[in-house]
Amino acid sequence: MKILVIGNGGREHALIWKIAQSKLVDKIFSVTGNGGINKIAESVNLTNNFEILDFAKNNNIDLTIVGPENPLCEGLVDLFEENKLKIFGPNKKSAQLEGSKEFTKEFLIRNNIPTAKYFSYTDYNSALKGLDDFKYPLVIKADGLCKGKGVFICKDKDEAIISLNKIFLDKIFGEEGNKIVIEEFLQGFEASLICLVSKNNIVPLEPAKDYKKIGEGDIGENTGGVGCISPNPLLDENTEKELNTIAKKIQKSLEKEDLAYNGILFIGFMITEEGAKVLEFNVRFGDPETEVILPRLKSDLVDVILKTMNNEISEDDLQWREEYCLTTVLCSGGYPDKYETNKEIVGLDKLDKDIIVFHNGTKLEKEVLLTNGGRVLSVTTLADSLEEARNIVYENIARIDFDGMYYRKDIGKI
Ligand SMILES: Nc1ncnc2c1ncn2[C@@H]1O[C@H](COP(=O)(O)OP(=O)(O)O)[C@@H](O)[C@H]1O
Ligand SMILES: [Mg+2]
Repeated sequence: MKILVIGNGGREHALIWKIAQSKLVDKIFSVTGNGGINKIAESVNLTNNFEILDFAKNNNIDLTIVGPENPLCEGLVDLFEENKLKIFGPNKKSAQLEGSKEFTKEFLIRNNIPTAKYFSYTDYNSALKGLDDFKYPLVIKADGLCKGKGVFICKDKDEAIISLNKIFLDKIFGEEGNKIVIEEFLQGFEASLICLVSKNNIVPLEPAKDYKKIGEGDIGENTGGVGCISPNPLLDENTEKELNTIAKKIQKSLEKEDLAYNGILFIGFMITEEGAKVLEFNVRFGDPETEVILPRLKSDLVDVILKTMNNEISEDDLQWREEYCLTTVLCSGGYPDKYETNKEIVGLDKLDKDIIVFHNGTKLEKEVLLTNGGRVLSVTTLADSLEEARNIVYENIARIDFDGMYYRKDIGKI
């Protein structure tokens, strides 16, 4: 088979790394490659959904897998399906589960799935008035896609007004902030399930715990994720069962509402004293979760995806390694704010054999590997214990260097 993978971060490198191990695959193309991906896939420079469609048609691509959310929300799957091409992911309508917070809240409430109480607003004055209907802290969310920056937790009314000003008056999210959701603040700890969804089943992958804050001890700004471990030691068996039950209910509701699709559903939960509540959905693989989940998957990923697309997937199709997997993300100094790129990366040739380095933001120029993003490399290993995985990863990171390199030293410390 010929496979096309859209997206060029660490998540897509992990996908391509796993796809390359499939006996079903002859050739992989990547839009648009990076310093690591280019060693196992051919990079193709396509800049919009129509170019991607043309490429897939002209090159007899058998299956397209989409990493990031934007092409899904823009209707890439609809375009492929109209042209009878195989693609893994939701169409534009179902992608609203990620693309619109209001759409998701309405879906959850309509189907009696536990979630925080909310109201939505389309103008500044009614949102301002609405603030009085909530206790503090409260949560303000821009409706649309904001690259993980669209959520404000406000401890008092002053902070809430500042957030409303940013969204409605300064328009920092442009049109994505034309609508907002205000919701009650939920106390608890977060957990997520990444699931394969088909039109008749939902199958959770092994759980992972990601590290979102830039600073050690979980302080400072939110990032895309700077570390991850799998399995998630914080998730006990009962909670896992509860999450699986909610996931089943979500799948049934998607089916009932003609929103079912063949792809990935990432369910973000807050585990509260009253039980688990859904915070949000994503309709694609998580990053960096993918970097620790796929190394633990023994089964052939392409086979698993094809079964999901044929509505034949079940839990028995997934075999897992017992080991722990840990990844620490090496970042450019300054990330998630301003950072510099084009710094030479050295030391990757000195790493232990069984270390896996997924490239998030790198490029190869005249044989020299350079940084090319805020997140640069995900240094990953499997080991029998979390402690051992931590030790191996940090020993190996000490051999890597680039100007301004920053990473959290507490990934895997619970
Ligand atoms: N109702 C809520 N109560 C408490 N924290 C919340 C709530 N909603 C969101 N959060 C926090 O904000 C983060 C981002 O919110 P989320 O809905 O996942 O949006 P996105 O990932 O699109 O930025 C969550 O991971 C969680 O930490
Ligand atoms: Mg989120």
